[in-house]
Amino acid sequence: MEKNSASLFGKSVVALKNFSAEEIRLVLNTARKMKQIVRRGGEKKLPNLRGKSIVNLFYEPSTRTRTSFELAGKYLGADVVSINSGTSSIVKGESLRDTLRTIEAMGVDAIVMRHKAEGAAEFATQVVKPIIINAGDGAHAHPSQALLDLFTIEQRKGRLAGLKVAIVGDILHSRVARSDVYAMTKMGMEVHLAGPKTLLPRFFEFDGVKVHESIEHAIQGADVINVLRIQLERQQAGLFPSTREYARVFGINDNRLRLAKDDVLILHPGPQNKGLEISSEATYCERSAIQEQVQNGVSVRMALLDLTLNGGNS
Ligand code: NCD
Repeated sequence: MEKNSASLFGKSVVALKNFSAEEIRLVLNTARKMKQIVRRGGEKKLPNLRGKSIVNLFYEPSTRTRTSFELAGKYLGADVVSINSGTSSIVKGESLRDTLRTIEAMGVDAIVMRHKAEGAAEFATQVVKPIIINAGDGAHAHPSQALLDLFTIEQRKGRLAGLKVAIVGDILHSRVARSDVYAMTKMGMEVHLAGPKTLLPRFFEFDGVKVHESIEHAIQGADVINVLRIQLERQQAGLFPSTREYARVFGINDNRLRLAKDDVLILHPGPQNKGLEISSEATYCERSAIQEQVQNGVSVRMALLDLTLNGGNS
């Protein structure tokens, strides 16, 4: 294996736009080691982050991301506390800055945060000292999700470079799509985006990516299809005619999958609107790696926490 001199030690993780290919490679290789440890059975706990404390600060709902960051920290021996905006002083109107400062005053080493505002994680890096790991900021970025997408693809396909990936659906509101595009292009993948015109970015922000209004063009010959959730909570009314129409024209189902490669890998970050952007058959078929994405999320988040807080030294 080539020598990789990248290091994430002491760094915050805000967006993959700022990551080099070597840094992404470092996370994927570390996640592979973490997965072997987690899956070998018996005691999962490692001492790597013993004595460190991590707070999960989530201003938006989450099942997968929050639970996997929590488990990841615990498997590495850290003390982890999760704060839910609905049951904290946030409901009393405390500002983000004051909440972050309060957490900092308790001496934590890292804050994993999710917020509805784009730029919230970057803001946090400017107002407090602990390492900030962005677990999603509005429609901007969701780095750990893109890293687990890459990890899942590499585990199933044995490589990343040269694969054709189609990302389909609500690109406009998707922080997953944004992070995927940066990560996938850096790793040499060919990225195609497709969705209704009203759900495509209005100006073109990505280099080297093909954008299609026809889903058929995007998924033709694809090795991987990443199906995005329609972000009903981030939509102004009227961006597409009806959910039935969306399912008919853009939904991923058996018929559409025939256009892709026979061994196409189906991804979805979850949670799914079943029957809208994806059919039940597509979710549960053998080509779907949706459950593996969830499983891999723990190993990838262990890698991120270990690399940033401990330098990856075991
Ligand atoms: C994603 C998110 O929150 O951005 N979900 C996740 O983290 N698994 C995608 C989504 O909500 O559609």
